[in-house]
Amino acid sequence: MPQNIIAANWKMNNDEYASKTLAYDFLKLLDKRNNPEVLKLLCVPFPFLSQIENMCKGNESVKIGAQNCSSFQKGAYTGEVSASMLKSLSIEYVIIGHSERRELFYEDKNTLFDKVNLAIANNITPIFCCGESLKERKVNNHLNHVLSQLKETVFNLTKNDFSKIVIAYEPIWAIGSGKTASNKDIQEMHRAIRESIKAHFGYGIANKISILYGGSVKPINAKEIFDLEDVNGGLIGGASLDSGDFFDIVNSIS
Ligand code: PGA
Repeated sequence: MPQNIIAANWKMNNDEYASKTLAYDFLKLLDKRNNPEVLKLLCVPFPFLSQIENMCKGNESVKIGAQNCSSFQKGAYTGEVSASMLKSLSIEYVIIGHSERRELFYEDKNTLFDKVNLAIANNITPIFCCGESLKERKVNNHLNHVLSQLKETVFNLTKNDFSKIVIAYEPIWAIGSGKTASNKDIQEMHRAIRESIKAHFGYGIANKISILYGGSVKPINAKEIFDLEDVNGGLIGGASLDSGDFFDIVNSIS
C-alpha cells in the first residue's frame, strides 16, 4: 500500500516569525488529533528549514521538506543550495519540478533529472511534480503530456531509485486558481500514471508509489479527492498557509 502523505508547499510566503507561528499553531492542533499513519510534510523556504525541523522533532509523523535543490553537486554556483546541504540539515524530502520552477526558472528535463538523482544520492525523497497546461487539456493531450514528463525524467531511474520517489500530479491550471480538476479527471490521470509505472517498473512498485494530487485543494473538497482510488494524498499550496485549514485537510484522509 502506498503511504498517505499530505504535503504543505508554503512557497515564498511569510517571514521567520510568521513561519514559526504557522508551524507552532499546526503542531498544537495535531496535539489534539493526529493520525500517525498519515505523513505530514511541511515544505518550507530554505532559511527556515532548521528552525521548523527542530520545532517538529517531537512528532514522528511530521517531516520537513525543501521546495527545491540545485542540479549541481557543489562548487561555484552562487545562490544555489545543494542536496548534500539539505541532507546535513536532516531534511528528508524535496519538491522537484514544480510547474512554477519549470515555467518561471526554465527548468528542463535534464536539470530535473540531475536534481532527482542528487536528491536520491543524498537519501532525500524527491516529490516529483508533473501536470498539464489548460491548452494541453483542451486539445485532449493531457494524458500524453503528463506521461511524457515522467518518461523523459524519472522513468529513466533504476527500478530501485524509482521506488524511492513520490509523484505529485498538479494540473497547472488548477494551481492557485480555485479550480480543481473533476474527481473523474483526477482519478483518470492517477490511474494512467500508475498503469504506466506498472508497465515500466512492474506491479510491485506501481502499487507502492504514493501519487499526490495538487491544485486548489481546500478543506471543502479534500475528502472527495483523497477518497479516489489512486490518490494517496495531496500537495497543498494556498490552504497550507492557514494552520486550521491545513489541519482540516490533513484530517480528510483516512
Ligand atoms: P494550491 O497550490 O494549493 O495553492 O493550488 C498547489 C501547489 O502549487 O503545490
